[in-house]
Amino acid sequence: AQFWLRGQRPDREVGYEEATGMWEVHGYPEILRALSDPATFSSNTQRLVPEASGFSEGNLTQLDPPDHQKLRKLVSHAFTPKVVADLEPRIAEITVELMDQMEDRAELVADLAYPLPVIVIAELLGVPASDRDKFKRWVDGMFNSTNKVSITGDRSPEDEAYFASAMEQVGELANYLTEHVRERRAEPRADLLSKLVEAEVDGVRLTDAEITNFGMVLLVAGHITTTMLLGNTLLCLDAHPDQFAMVRADRSMVPAAIEESLRFLSPFAAVSRVTNEETELGGVRIPADQMLLLWIAAANRDPRQFADPNVFDVTRDPNPQLGFGRGIHFCLGAPLARLEGKVALNLLLDRFPELRTDPDDAPEFLPSPNMTGVRRLPLLLR
Ligand code: HEM
Repeated sequence: AQFWLRGQRPDREVGYEEATGMWEVHGYPEILRALSDPATFSSNTQRLVPEASGFSEGNLTQLDPPDHQKLRKLVSHAFTPKVVADLEPRIAEITVELMDQMEDRAELVADLAYPLPVIVIAELLGVPASDRDKFKRWVDGMFNSTNKVSITGDRSPEDEAYFASAMEQVGELANYLTEHVRERRAEPRADLLSKLVEAEVDGVRLTDAEITNFGMVLLVAGHITTTMLLGNTLLCLDAHPDQFAMVRADRSMVPAAIEESLRFLSPFAAVSRVTNEETELGGVRIPADQMLLLWIAAANRDPRQFADPNVFDVTRDPNPQLGFGRGIHFCLGAPLARLEGKVALNLLLDRFPELRTDPDDAPEFLPSPNMTGVRRLPLLLR
């Protein structure tokens, strides 16, 4: 993962990578600066890779001010802290249902960390339970395909095939969501899609396409990231038995363990930006129209910001980790991810006080440069 670059090139917080044609940024203050200046560092990266623009309307992550603010206000109207807090009992129920399937040995990702967030998002949106499997299949397909395709550089025929299949899944999922949006317009229910249909700020409402695409963004941004958070937190705790014991004994430490896990193994390792004009970052001149990769995973290990950055420490306080980003695009789902992490971890520790990783079956990391986390984490439960 990229945070190793920090050790290899401590002098280079900002540098151009010939191999990717992108500027790589590793330093904490440099990344903070870029995240807090959207006029110079635009989120509209699709303008440099137009072929990657599948769903742009309603895609918050690609918008700059003032459009970003308008859309974010509207969706925040529907996706409120109360909507998230109200999910807590359901998150607990789903976690218990999933834990009921676990035997003495379990594989955390397949058994809990992968299904939990997608079920939560499906229920939040209002996808009927009868469509859950279909929904999950599209999401699996979308994830498996996009995960293997880099949007820069040459694509092999195999990559092309994966890309085509991803686009197919994306298309089917989008059609499905659009159908539901239309139904909610006719007959609102108590779900997020209906709230998005009804949301109104200064006389402006969301279009069908914007709601559909926002639903897709929730899945892309909120599913695997949360899967990684759960796996990584357990992996880090298991590797630090003293701290694991402390957290088991004092559950008020669970949120701090989650924050430290987000710092130590940041699931969403890098965010991209494009320069609107020539600028300077970390003493390096960057021309206009350049793609930047801001490695928040590396910034989270910057010794200028964190003492002993390579030490996992659940008592770290304060912990201004950048795992959810910063500034106007700060993760809209952060409260939900934190809640899912807290509920799932607490319930796991309640039911399986002896829980530990399986010493005879090693964890596997996701082979993705910009997602940090385990895709397989075998556990012994008793
Ligand atoms: C944005 C990380 C979970 C929805 C972001 C950003 C990061 C991030 C780093 C900023 C992207 C940027 O600045 O370009 C994470 C991590 C998660 C997580 C590490 C889990 C541990 C979720 C969940 C949801 C969600 C559960 C919703 C269900 C969003 C949305 C944005 C976003 C909609 C775009 C916000 C905007 O552009 O204004 N997330 N996220 N995320 N996240 Fe998350």
